[in-house]
Amino acid sequence: MDRLFSKLHDQREDPNRDTKANRRGDFSSIHSAITMGSGAKRPIRVHQKTDWTAAAEEALHNDPDLADLCGWQSGIFTHNFPLVYGHLYRTLNALLGRDPSLRLNFPDRSIYTGFSVNYGPRTATLPHLDSGNYPSVPCVITSLGRFNPDRGGHLYFPDLKIYIRFPPKCTVLFSSASIKHGNTAVRGADAERMSITQYVAGGIVRFVRHRFRLVKEMSRQERLRLDGPPGYQWIKQRSRFSTPELLVDHRRQMRSDLDPYLIE
Ligand SMILES: [Fe+2]
Repeated sequence: MDRLFSKLHDQREDPNRDTKANRRGDFSSIHSAITMGSGAKRPIRVHQKTDWTAAAEEALHNDPDLADLCGWQSGIFTHNFPLVYGHLYRTLNALLGRDPSLRLNFPDRSIYTGFSVNYGPRTATLPHLDSGNYPSVPCVITSLGRFNPDRGGHLYFPDLKIYIRFPPKCTVLFSSASIKHGNTAVRGADAERMSITQYVAGGIVRFVRHRFRLVKEMSRQERLRLDGPPGYQWIKQRSRFSTPELLVDHRRQMRSDLDPYLIE
């Protein structure tokens, strides 16, 4: 991770860099993802607006250290949320099979459809919800940098009034769409903090569940048939969570559910 930090540091210090401050705080970011933004007719990859960000995205895709980190993050998700993973796998299998122009950032390494590199130098975020993410697929965040975790860089959840010590090289998973969260500033003259996150846009999952159509293209009856009554989708999402007692069984179930997909 030190090598990755140093490469991202160099990318950030490139005098030609033209990334703008992130709307969540005073730091710059690159987002590389399949998205379903407002007005989009189907899922597409995020368009990089400048030559610099396009080249930086390509360099990130080709970086073996970032691939390792994203693969490891995805593995933590798979290991602890096996039924959520199984549902996501089937969803993406249907989507990517139908639209070859879409591709994951790290095929065969990470199931997540998007990553963001928050370059810092002192990444701190105001309290927010990532309401575009699919709530039951936890967002995964790894903190990188050089700072004293007793004096800043805490993850905090304002509604719960909880601050969590979040040292460099540590990783956390939580539903960033469901719970308001932020990061405190780091302290110290030479302190630096970056973060690398992965996530899945909820619009992608909805698009597949709606048989590759937009909500406005469906009748009310059809939508009720595919979504169920109000609140039903959240019940479905919660039913895929594993308690400690069920985790081993759920891992087994996920493997057998995916057998028809994995054996070709
Ligand atoms: Fe967030």
